[in-house]
Amino acid sequence: MTDPVRPPEIAEALGRRVMGQPEAVKELSIALAKKLQGLSAGNVLMVGSSGTGKTTLMRAIEVWLAAREDPRQDWPLIRVHANVLAEESSRDRPGESILLRLLERTRERYDELPTPQLLERAANGLVFVDEVDKIRSHVGGEPNTRGIRAQEALLTLIENEAVPVRLPDWAGGEAVTVDASRLLFVAAGAFEGLYEAVYDRVTIGADRGSLRAMSVFENAGTVRQELQFSLRDWLRYEDLFDYGLTPQFLARFDSLVLLDDLSEDVLVEIFLDDPESGLQQAREYFSSLGVEIAISPAAVRRIAQEAVRQPRLGARALKEVFRRVMREVEFDPKANVGSVLMVDLPEVEEALKR
Ligand SMILES: Nc1ncnc2c1ncn2[C@@H]1O[C@H](COP(=O)(O)OP(=O)(O)O)[C@@H](O)[C@H]1O
Ligand SMILES: [Mg+2]
Repeated sequence: MTDPVRPPEIAEALGRRVMGQPEAVKELSIALAKKLQGLSAGNVLMVGSSGTGKTTLMRAIEVWLAAREDPRQDWPLIRVHANVLAEESSRDRPGESILLRLLERTRERYDELPTPQLLERAANGLVFVDEVDKIRSHVGGEPNTRGIRAQEALLTLIENEAVPVRLPDWAGGEAVTVDASRLLFVAAGAFEGLYEAVYDRVTIGADRGSLRAMSVFENAGTVRQELQFSLRDWLRYEDLFDYGLTPQFLARFDSLVLLDDLSEDVLVEIFLDDPESGLQQAREYFSSLGVEIAISPAAVRRIAQEAVRQPRLGARALKEVFRRVMREVEFDPKANVGSVLMVDLPEVEEALKR
C-alpha cells in the first residue's frame, strides 16, 4: 500500500499551473483524491467566463495524473469537446464512443493486457467534457436536437452499471456490457449570457427585488446606493435548466464550481509565470535571435490594467495587449540583436495609443 494522496498535495501541484482559482482547484483536488482511493468521487461541473482557466485546469490534471506512474491507479483520461460528442451521438450508440476511446487510451499504455483487464481499467476512467454549454437542449426558444442527444449520450454513461458496447475488431468485435458507474465526469463551460440572465432574474425578472441596493459610504461623507451582484451568490440549478441543461443531466453532477473572473493582480501573475503567456513566447522568439527581454514591473502592471478592461477574454486579453506592445520590435528585431530589449512603461503607453 502506498500512502493515499491528500487533496492539499494535489492542489499545490494544480495551483502552480492554474492561478487565482482556489475554489475550483480545491474541489477538483478532493474529487481526484477520492478517485485515486477507489472511492466514489462525485461528478463536477465548472462554470466560468472564457479565458479564466477551465481548460488549463483540465490539462493540468491530465499532466499531474500522467506523471504519477502508479500502475494500480493508472486510469485513462480523455478530454472531449461537447460539440464532437453531439456529432458522435447522432451516429453511434449513446455513450459508446466515449467508452471506446477510454479503451483505446488504455491499450496505448498497456498493450500486453488481455481485453477484460483493459476494459476494467477503461471503466475506471476520467471523462472531461469541455465546452459543455455548447450542448444546450434549447437555443433561443427552439429545441436543439443535437444538444439533447449529446446530453442523453452522457446520461447513458453516468452512473450506469450496464452500458452495451460493441468492441472494436482488435478486441474481438463482440457485443459486451460495461459497468460505467465508476467513471468520473468533469464538465466545464463558459455559459455566455448566464450572468446577465441571473442578474435579470433577481432585478427585473421572476425574483425582482431580491437583489437589494446597498448603501456605499464615500469619503466625502456622501452615501450612494449600489447594486452589488455576484453570480456565486445567486446562481441556482434552475438557472442552468433555463440555460439548457436538462434536470436529469444536471442532477448527475454533485458539485457546481464557479471560476472567478481574473483580477488585475492574478493577471500580473499569469503574465509573468504562465508557461503559455505571451511573455514566455516572446522570450523564446527573441532568445532564438540572441536577444533577452527585460520588462519593468510598471510595464507589466500597465499591460494587466489594459487586459482587465476586456473581461470577456479573461487571460487571453493579456496576449492580445502584449501583441500590440511587441508588434513593432518583433517585426524588425535586427535592431536589437546581441542586446537586451528593455520594455518599460513609456513603450507600453506608446503602443497602446496606436
Ligand atoms: N487561472 C489561470 N491561470 C493560469 N493561466 C490561465 C488562467 N486562466 C487562463 N489562463 C491562460 O489563458 C489561456 C486560456 O485559458 P483557458 O484555460 O483555455 O480558458 P477557458 O476558461 O476559456 O478554458 C491559456 O493560455 C492559459 O494558460
Ligand atoms: Mg476552454
